[in-house]
Amino acid sequence: MDQIFYWPQVASSIAHHIDTLFNVLNAMAAFWIILIVGCLIYFVVKYRRGTDADRSNPPHESLLLEIAWIGIPVLMCMAIFGYSTWTYLQVMRAPKDAHPIYVVAKQWMWKIQHPQGRWEMNELHVPLGQDIQLIMTSEDVIHSFYVPDFRVKQDVVPGRYATLWFKATELGTHHLFCAEYCGTKHSGMVGTVYVMQPADYQKWLHEGNAGGTLAQQGEALFRELGCGGCHGPGSNVRAPMLDGVYNNPVPLQEPGGGTKVIIGDERYIHDSIVNPEQEVAAGYKPIMPSFRGQLDEQKIRLLVEYIKSLSTANGGRAGGTKEAVPPHAPQASTAPLAAKPNPLPATAPLAGATTDINVRKSGQE
Ligand code: CUA
Repeated sequence: MDQIFYWPQVASSIAHHIDTLFNVLNAMAAFWIILIVGCLIYFVVKYRRGTDADRSNPPHESLLLEIAWIGIPVLMCMAIFGYSTWTYLQVMRAPKDAHPIYVVAKQWMWKIQHPQGRWEMNELHVPLGQDIQLIMTSEDVIHSFYVPDFRVKQDVVPGRYATLWFKATELGTHHLFCAEYCGTKHSGMVGTVYVMQPADYQKWLHEGNAGGTLAQQGEALFRELGCGGCHGPGSNVRAPMLDGVYNNPVPLQEPGGGTKVIIGDERYIHDSIVNPEQEVAAGYKPIMPSFRGQLDEQKIRLLVEYIKSLSTANGGRAGGTKEAVPPHAPQASTAPLAAKPNPLPATAPLAGATTDINVRKSGQE
C-alpha cells in the first residue's frame, strides 16, 4: 500500500503491514459512520412530522436484515483479528539469525553496544536489509524505544531484557524517540538511526574500535574483577566452570534440597552476577558475592558476552545439545534432564519479547 502524506516514511520490512492495518480500521470506521449517519439523516427527513410518508404498515421483523447486521460485523471483526494477529507475530518473532545489538536506556540517553565492540550514544548505526535484534534494558526507570519510520516501539524496563527486531529498508537517517514519560528531560531523550550500506556499516564498525569485541572487553573485565580466582581452570571446587553454561542445561539447587534444571540463557548469566544467591548451581555453596551496584548494565553486558563466547568458541560446546550433561555439575546424574524455562510473572508484558533479569531487588540502588 502506498504511503499516505501524513505518515512517517515507510522504512522497515514490517512498516507497511502496520499501515495496512491502520488504513483498514480507518476505512471500516468510515464505512459504518457513513452508513449509520446516512440512514439516520434519511429517516429523520423522510418521517419528520407533517410528511405524508406511509406509516400504515410498520415492519416488525426482518430475518434477512438481522442476519446481515450480525453476520457482516462478525466477518469484518474476524478479518481484522486474523490480519492483526498475523502482523503481531511478524513483529514479535525475531528471525533466528538476527544480528544482535545491545541497548541500555538511562535518564536521559540511549547507549548502544555493538558485539564487535563499538559503542555509541543516542545514535544507532545499522546495515540496510539485514535483520537486527535489539536486546534492551534500563538502568533506572521505564523508557520506550520508538522509531516511527520503522513502526516499532518497545518498552525498556529495568530488571528485564526486552527485545525488538526490524529490517531497515531505506538508507538515511530516521528519528529515535523515547515514548514513555521518564522524567524531566524525557522529551530530550531522542536520537538518530543511521541506515547504511552493509559494506559501509562494516567499515564504520571497525573505525575507532580499539577495545576489541564486547567478549574480549568482557574477558579483560573478568580478569580485572578477579572472577578467575574462583571460576578459573583448576578451581572448580569452589565455583562452577563457566564454559558451556550458555544455551545449555544448568542444574540448580532448590531451597528444599532438590535440583531443577534451567537453560543458561542471558537472563540467567546476568542474574548470577547481580543476584547470585537466588540461583545457586547444584553442588556449590552460595558464596559468590553480588556485583549489584558495582557494575552498570553496560559492564554486565561485557561479562555476559564473554561468558557466552566461552560456549561458542573452539567448537567445544557450541550450540550444545540440550540433552548434554554439563561438565560443571557434580550432581548432574541426579538432575532431571528435562529443562524447563523460567516462568515469567503473570504481569509480564509481551511475554515473547521480555525476559526477567534482576537488577533492582530489595531496594538496593
Ligand atoms: Cu526515557 Cu522517556
